[in-house]
Amino acid sequence: MEKKWWHEKVAYQIYPKSFKDTTGDGIGDLRGIIQKLDYLKKLGVDIIWLSPCYCSPLADQGYDISDYYNIDPRFGNMDDMDELIAEAKKRDMYILMDLVVNHCSDEHEWFQKALADPDGAYGKYFYIEEAVDGHAPNNWRSYFGGSAWEPIPGTNKYYLHLFHKKQPDLNWENPKVREDIYTMINWWLDRGLAGFRIDAIINIKKALPVTAFNYPADREDGLAKATRMLSDAVGVGDFLSEMRDRTFAKYDAFTAGEVFNEREEDIPRFIGDHGYFSTMYDFRSTIFGESEKGWYDATHITPDDYKACCFETQRIIGDNGMISTIIENHDEPRGVSRYIPTGELSDTSKKLLATMQFMLRGLPFIYQGQELGMENVDFQSIDDIDDISTLDEYQVALNAGLSKEKALEAVKYYSRDNARTPFQWDDSENAGFTTGTPWLKLNPNYTRINAKAEVDTPTSVFSYYQKLIALRKNPQYKEAVVYGAFEAYREEEPRLMAFYRRGTDKTLLVIGNYQMEERTLELPSPCKKVILSNCNKTSIIDGKTLQLSGYQAVVLELEV
Ligand code: GLC
Repeated sequence: MEKKWWHEKVAYQIYPKSFKDTTGDGIGDLRGIIQKLDYLKKLGVDIIWLSPCYCSPLADQGYDISDYYNIDPRFGNMDDMDELIAEAKKRDMYILMDLVVNHCSDEHEWFQKALADPDGAYGKYFYIEEAVDGHAPNNWRSYFGGSAWEPIPGTNKYYLHLFHKKQPDLNWENPKVREDIYTMINWWLDRGLAGFRIDAIINIKKALPVTAFNYPADREDGLAKATRMLSDAVGVGDFLSEMRDRTFAKYDAFTAGEVFNEREEDIPRFIGDHGYFSTMYDFRSTIFGESEKGWYDATHITPDDYKACCFETQRIIGDNGMISTIIENHDEPRGVSRYIPTGELSDTSKKLLATMQFMLRGLPFIYQGQELGMENVDFQSIDDIDDISTLDEYQVALNAGLSKEKALEAVKYYSRDNARTPFQWDDSENAGFTTGTPWLKLNPNYTRINAKAEVDTPTSVFSYYQKLIALRKNPQYKEAVVYGAFEAYREEEPRLMAFYRRGTDKTLLVIGNYQMEERTLELPSPCKKVILSNCNKTSIIDGKTLQLSGYQAVVLELEV
């Protein structure tokens, strides 16, 4: 595998709306991010991905862009953006923006022109189709519920939106659309961005003609989920390689693709040495347990399932590229609340999860607040939830006959708003996030879990993340941590998550006792050094017998 400038880095995702508000409007902004760069530097991260802050009606929190060339006034302006890029550079940090080009906003000028003249040039920027027998052109269900087709008032036509109806899909088959997108990407890279996280990108290729692809209904609404058509949409690679060659490759930019449903044999094409992207995320544990019926019917993941997911990805990726590891992002509940069984959540178990994420082979992405051990919210009412996808899933659960209480119980476990509550800076009112009224209620546990309490506390979750980041950069160990081969260890043992990382001259063994009970293990070879532990005591008898307390995680250097 060719070495790349970003392989040794650590990335961090900011959800601007919830990070730090400097204007008192209850919404985070770019000046807030600038203010907190030193905090991020202290943590040790290098690459910062900003979820969208372009002009947007915020129907899907900025993933509905109405102007790709401007910052939404709620987040600041272009001067703030330039300053952020410059201030990051001063600190050897890199800024990524979110590239949302499967769709734009219905308020984007292109779509407005398309509505005004569906048969004109801008109509061809979208998927606009005649009704079939008075109905939508096919039975695809949008990811956010309901038909993926919306009628255009005053016409016999519909437009396609795989996501919300305020997110019309751009027609990548039209070369003009692609040109406009590449121009925009290069404009941003010229401004000094290091690259992009690339949103929902696998959806840009549709099964065509759309009218030929109806599928058996998978719910009572008679619709079939939109992902169904992706397996019949052939040729996304042509678009992706063209985009790479026309934009990213020229700048040696870093790109992280949001890719679902990839086939194993395609991985080298996606993230190999000359792949479409630098990296993509490992979503195997994220999608574990999904049900066609909806969130209410999904299976919760256990520690052993979690291990199986992580290990499977490691084996599949191998040396084919560098995957990116996550435990959460803005679309998921908090990882600690999901991957640690109820009742077993503690700083120690949170640190175990962090150890696993950082020691697996891959580029770690921390999602804001993860480094503090931020947890899911115990939402008391559906009215406390803003996210469109949770509201849809709540309705799906009610339609399936669940009571309101049961429906809330079911969806709050998966709600995207778990991760979107404001960042917890300190224990003052609104956790120091805003002086105004926060756009989304805070998690009340901010009085206990917050940056101020953790930053200079050696035993905190934050300090532990600092250590993990430092280990990845430690000249003695980084070759093994970044490039070392993964090999599972005692994989069959329940609630033990252990693996080797074999570097060219060092062998590391990572062991996580993923349970409350203690455990004793005979090591495969003598321990040379305990490099890291999430507990203050690590006992190894005669260099070979390791005694672990509940949820203890260790990184050992072995003799061989
Ligand atoms: C991606 C984003 C998600 C958004 C969707 C539509 O999955 O991460 O937040 O809702 O795309 O843009």
